[in-house]
Amino acid sequence: MKKNIVLIGFMGSGKSTLAQILAQKTFRKVVSTDDLIQKQEGRSIADIFQKSGESVFRVLEHHVVLQVAQDQELIIDCGGGVVLNPQNMTALKKTGVLIYLSCQPKEILRRIQMQPKRPLLDVADPLAKIEELLHQRKSLYDQADLTIDTTDGDLQKAAQEIITKVLS
Ligand code: S3P
Repeated sequence: MKKNIVLIGFMGSGKSTLAQILAQKTFRKVVSTDDLIQKQEGRSIADIFQKSGESVFRVLEHHVVLQVAQDQELIIDCGGGVVLNPQNMTALKKTGVLIYLSCQPKEILRRIQMQPKRPLLDVADPLAKIEELLHQRKSLYDQADLTIDTTDGDLQKAAQEIITKVLS
C-alpha cells in the first residue's frame, strides 16, 4: 500500500504551498480538507464558521477526513484543527504518514496577515490567539511521524526532506 502524505500544522505553516510542491515532484494528487468541505457545502469556511459555528465545521471536517483517509497515494493538506479530533488522527495514521509543519508564532502572524480569511484569528490580538491555540494543540501536532520547521520559509528544502525520509 502506498501511504498518503498527510500535512498537519497550524494555519500559515505552509501546508498548501508545500502540498503543491510535493505534487509536482511526486506526480501525486493533492486533496485539501478545507477545499473539499467548501465544495461539498457550496460555501466558504468563513461562512460556515460565521453562520453555523465552529462545532458544525468540525463535524463537516471529520466527515471529509474519513473520506480522504480511505484513499491512498495522496498528498493530504489538512486544516490546522484536524488534530483536535482523535478519530481524525486514527483514520489519517492508518493510511498515511503524518508530517507536522511547525512554525514560530510571529512568522505565522506575518503570513496570516498577508492571507486573511481565518475566522479563528479574526480577533483583537491575533498573536496571543496563535500562541494560545499552539499551546493547546502542541501535544496533538507532536503525534506526527515527522516534524519539519518551516519558519525559514524554505519549502523546497522541506519537500526534499519529505521525499528523502518518507518516499525513498
Ligand atoms: C483552522 C484552520 C484552517 C481552517 C479553519 C480552522 C484551525 O485551515 O480549517 O479556519 O482550526 O486551525 P488552514 O490551516 O488550512 O488555514
